[in-house]
Amino acid sequence: TNNPKSIIVIFGATGDLANRKLFPSIYRLYRNGKLSENFAVVGVARRPLTNEEFRNNVMKSVEQFQEDDIDHESFASHFYYNPFDATDLEHYQKLNSFLLELDDQYQTEGNRIFYLAMAPNFFGTIASNLKSEGLTSTNGWTRLVIEKPFGNNFETAKALNDQIREAFDEDQIYRIDHYLGKEMVQNIEVIRFANALFEPLWNNQYISNIQITSSEVLGVEDRGRYYESSGALRDMFQNHMLQMLALLAMEPPIKLTPDEIRSEKVKALRALRPVNEDEVDDYFVRGQYDRGIINDEEQIAYRESNAVDENSNTETFVAGKLLIDNFRWAGVPFYIRTGKRMEKKSTEIVIQFKDLPMNLYYDQGENIYPNLLVIHIQPYEGITLHLNAKKGDYGTTSTPIMLNYDNTQKDKMNTPEAYEVLLHDCMRGDSTNFTHWDEVALSWKFVDIISNHWESKAAKQFPNYESGSNGPKDSDALLEKDGYQWWSVLPDNNE
Ligand code: BG6
Repeated sequence: TNNPKSIIVIFGATGDLANRKLFPSIYRLYRNGKLSENFAVVGVARRPLTNEEFRNNVMKSVEQFQEDDIDHESFASHFYYNPFDATDLEHYQKLNSFLLELDDQYQTEGNRIFYLAMAPNFFGTIASNLKSEGLTSTNGWTRLVIEKPFGNNFETAKALNDQIREAFDEDQIYRIDHYLGKEMVQNIEVIRFANALFEPLWNNQYISNIQITSSEVLGVEDRGRYYESSGALRDMFQNHMLQMLALLAMEPPIKLTPDEIRSEKVKALRALRPVNEDEVDDYFVRGQYDRGIINDEEQIAYRESNAVDENSNTETFVAGKLLIDNFRWAGVPFYIRTGKRMEKKSTEIVIQFKDLPMNLYYDQGENIYPNLLVIHIQPYEGITLHLNAKKGDYGTTSTPIMLNYDNTQKDKMNTPEAYEVLLHDCMRGDSTNFTHWDEVALSWKFVDIISNHWESKAAKQFPNYESGSNGPKDSDALLEKDGYQWWSVLPDNNE
């Protein structure tokens, strides 16, 4: 099962995701011996392209791997292109005949992955048509991979899910959350469940708060049209941020199987305290970026971006305080923030431990710093543990120190990319790092209250943070009210 045989059909094969992420990921799997020779990729999209033109695109997207000892042309020869109209049933039948031919040629045993990497308005239609035109009944397995956004709220997500479920079983559906493919996100479980040190402290007796930050320097760029209907809450918070929260908060699963892990994540999400509609502003802060300077360059405001309304009410930043009502976490705030056009690109998780019962070093005028465990997701990948230790002098005063594990040093060339890991998982039939419908449903229900409230009332002061800053002031105030602050500390030389 290590080198699964299959045909991968990519809907949206001329798009950004296919070219930027999927082709390079397939290439890396191929190069690393994770794909057998028995594979073919069929790109479908509206645009008329020949196989040759398509293969040229594929080769361009893997040009970055020039130094490899791999013949790019023979890699690209596995790729085929079919111009396609997602609403035309005849196109599905033609595609099916073509897949049957390829199946013979590449001996792929009827195994098929349908990867929906395009605008979401056709997700449901395509799933239905694949079934009605017989593309899902083969003698092998068929799987459906779906990109985000999975709906725009609970209602639309449910309608989409119902439609897909008429054509595919839950265990055939692989909903992508690419954060779950990141090395250090997958490391959360290992750090928690493979060390004797942390799990005994991983609760409200010893932890004072947990912070999850994902900041980006990039703005909305050319995705204005999509982003206007989304905003940071739907684009990042509902999926990536809540998934990281679930991994941090869940109980240890009884086994590392997809079902057991999912059921623990679901339980954690079910314990999230829903925000009262009249308290949204006490628990959540929204922001929108203004002009500003990053790396000496003037940045335009969100409202000045392409395809964005000049009075847009869309948030490009969100910070929230979440509470989990169960025995383990009662009383421990989880602070989450994410935004675009911020000071630096960084995703990190900070676990702040409770203060000591007293400070024996107070007389020497020394502060004792709280112990922090920081899981650095990206771009720096590692773990740091913040402790206090003796200062190097004659007295017995204390000073903060940091133990650092740098994950990128371990295996520099070969840390796989998120999409590469997820594609490989899907081919092997391992759905652990994909989101189950139950998780998606709970996340939307939590988020809907906040977005409904925000939509009912225009933000008072948009734009409210400068490009290159750390978001609006209210985001700091959210923690200050509770006596905390956002931590952001990288080991030396990694700024
Ligand atoms: C995507 C969002 O899901 O995640 C983008 O749609 C965002 O808006 C991206 O930029 C961030 O991903 P990463 O891997 O760069 O942190």
